[in-house]
Amino acid sequence: MKSSYKFLGQLGIRVITGTGLAQRSSRRLQVPAERSATDVLAEAGVGISVKCSDGLCGVCALPYDAQASDAVEHRDFVLSQNERQQKIILCCSRAQHAGGVITLKL
Ligand code: FES
Repeated sequence: MKSSYKFLGQLGIRVITGTGLAQRSSRRLQVPAERSATDVLAEAGVGISVKCSDGLCGVCALPYDAQASDAVEHRDFVLSQNERQQKIILCCSRAQHAGGVITLKL
């Protein structure tokens, strides 16, 4: 299943941390088409729990800011349509278009 992802566009991830404005920080990571967001985040020091790596278990779900994000191509088999408005499965989901940016809330 993972090999099919190499043909998808890149995913940019903006990581927002902290709850108060003074504590907030933001950085942007590029996720190449052939890699998962969980791998790139781990390399950047943001450890996301991963179990199945296939969009089946939901362990790697994180909230994202839909209003501050480009369209998401949800490729999981676990989130409901309602949940997809607020969460993204990072082991397999992508931005719908190359260069799209998804803003994660950590
Ligand atoms: S690790 Fe199971 S859905 Fe991502």
